[in-house]
Amino acid sequence: MLEGETHLSQLSTLITKEEIENRVAELAAEIREDYLGKNPLLLGILKGSFVFMSDLIRKLNIPLEIEFIRLSSYGAGKEPSNRIRLVHGINVPLKDRHVLIIEDIVDTGLTVRYLHDYLNRKRPSSIKLCTLFDKPSRRVVDVTVDYLGFKVPDTFVVGYGIDFDEKFRYLPDLCIMEGQV
Ligand code: IMP
Repeated sequence: MLEGETHLSQLSTLITKEEIENRVAELAAEIREDYLGKNPLLLGILKGSFVFMSDLIRKLNIPLEIEFIRLSSYGAGKEPSNRIRLVHGINVPLKDRHVLIIEDIVDTGLTVRYLHDYLNRKRPSSIKLCTLFDKPSRRVVDVTVDYLGFKVPDTFVVGYGIDFDEKFRYLPDLCIMEGQV
């Protein structure tokens, strides 16, 4: 245990790494069928999506390209702010590209809505959304999820790339974080 981290006893497993692995394989099969021959651009939202992205592309195993964009909504706490900030954009041309957004978790939907507006200005052929986790009960704006891994309850989760205050991204399972730090 690293000093200053929440005690691991405050974390309980919600979705195991085996369940995640199986679901990622199923998602990859669906996406492969839809995008084969289209050389899609998978656009990961940093930092949370990097673990999912790396597992997904190896299971997809079709020609594709990847880019990352960095947006921030959560600060150092658990509550999202209504303001989304673009930390790093992308420079590659998107005109006539098939863009598949890769997200770790959709909560209020504000991040994805912001990204849609940003991407639409670059005139891609299509924009779709793949998220591994979704908290639909928290939605503030409508978002169409094209590929969904798991619905999760309205609770704060960490692991599989998802952090609390930059901690716990390394956990292989998706865990519920209870209590305060
Ligand atoms: P949204 O804009 O409210 O949909 O928030 C999406 C972003 O908030 C995700 O990309 C995550 O980075 C973060 N987020 C949402 N829910 C959680 C959570 O339960 N744990 C950690 N980060 C979360």
